[in-house]
Amino acid sequence: MDIEMRKLEHIFICEYCDIEYKKSTLLNDVELIHRGISKVDYEDISTEINLFGKKLSAPIIVSGMTGGFEGAKEINKNIAIAIEELNLGMGVGSQRAGLKNEKLSETYSIVRKYTDNLVIGNLGAVNLMDNWGEEEIEKAVNMIDADAMAIHFNPLQEIIQPEGDVNFKNFDKLKEIITNYKKNYRDIPFIAKQVGEGFSKEDAINLKFFDAIDIQGSGGTSWAKVELLRVKDNKNKKILENFSEWGIPTAVSILEVKSVYDKIVIGSGGVRSGIDIAKCIALGCSCSGIALPILKAALKNANEVVKVLENLINELKITMFLIGAENIEQLRNTPYIIKGELKNWISQRLKGEFL
Ligand SMILES: Cc1cc2nc3c(=O)[nH]c(=O)nc-3n(C[C@H](O)[C@H](O)[C@H](O)COP(=O)(O)O)c2cc1C
Repeated sequence: MDIEMRKLEHIFICEYCDIEYKKSTLLNDVELIHRGISKVDYEDISTEINLFGKKLSAPIIVSGMTGGFEGAKEINKNIAIAIEELNLGMGVGSQRAGLKNEKLSETYSIVRKYTDNLVIGNLGAVNLMDNWGEEEIEKAVNMIDADAMAIHFNPLQEIIQPEGDVNFKNFDKLKEIITNYKKNYRDIPFIAKQVGEGFSKEDAINLKFFDAIDIQGSGGTSWAKVELLRVKDNKNKKILENFSEWGIPTAVSILEVKSVYDKIVIGSGGVRSGIDIAKCIALGCSCSGIALPILKAALKNANEVVKVLENLINELKITMFLIGAENIEQLRNTPYIIKGELKNWISQRLKGEFL
């Protein structure tokens, strides 16, 4: 099946079917400490941050999702209009289709007709490890005048897709390509991004040459569930069912990565409320990324995207009010407790660092 058709199928499945993990992000096992005396005027609360050289009104980016088929134009346009209105950031989906077929590049570049804000490009690690290099990165950056590039790692998605690329062996080549790109073209930030199964601390040690890690842990969109709805034969269905809950929950992945990596961490994967965003930041993230709820809104119109994002910002501000944080720096330093299954993960994986 060609890439355009596959992307269309993904969007259709995400719009109409239940494709989220049953298991939780475990952000519910993080409790921020309520302050009975807030000592903050709600009107003074600032959610502003600086990220990748741009000022954002809140620590929220729309995670990269689409591009590469005609219908993606409208979706990316609606997201771009909303982030311009609210002064947030966005990613585009994998630009592979746009590089392979120039006619499709407009399905990504359309975002620049509507926003000057933070826009993050997107390429697959597996394609760079295989036969792509600096030139393809430069084409992708130019396509959307990218402020930063996300390189996605998606081994689960590749192994379960009939069309998947499964050779992730040449990891060391990536460091060389990115270092050379920065030297020979431009020094923009590179983000290592997962797609919903999270990174471990072992991964983060390997990813230290990246400027940021977008952890995209489990608890939101499950790619095995999306692919499950695409396959026809029963043998593959069974495999996909068995892997549909696979992955590191978002809260765990944040703590694992933060335990060994001290640059920018984006807390994402199943982030669904302003309280979730506040928790990601309290755990040490610089901002959060959100995909599926924005896609659903963008399939309607830009106003719907604005509404979803505004709700998230309002909930974040209310949370900050209730814990007595006037700005994002104070939120980052707010106390919290860790309980339940998250505490169990920490006691086995990060003992001495958090307990
Ligand atoms: C329809 C759809 C397409 C996606 N395409 C890409 C992609 O091309 N590149 C990428 O890095 N992530 C892609 N993602 C993954 C998201 O960026 C995100 O990691 C994942 O959906 C988990 O976030 P969520 O739980 O908020 O949806 C896609 C997600 C969706 C829903």
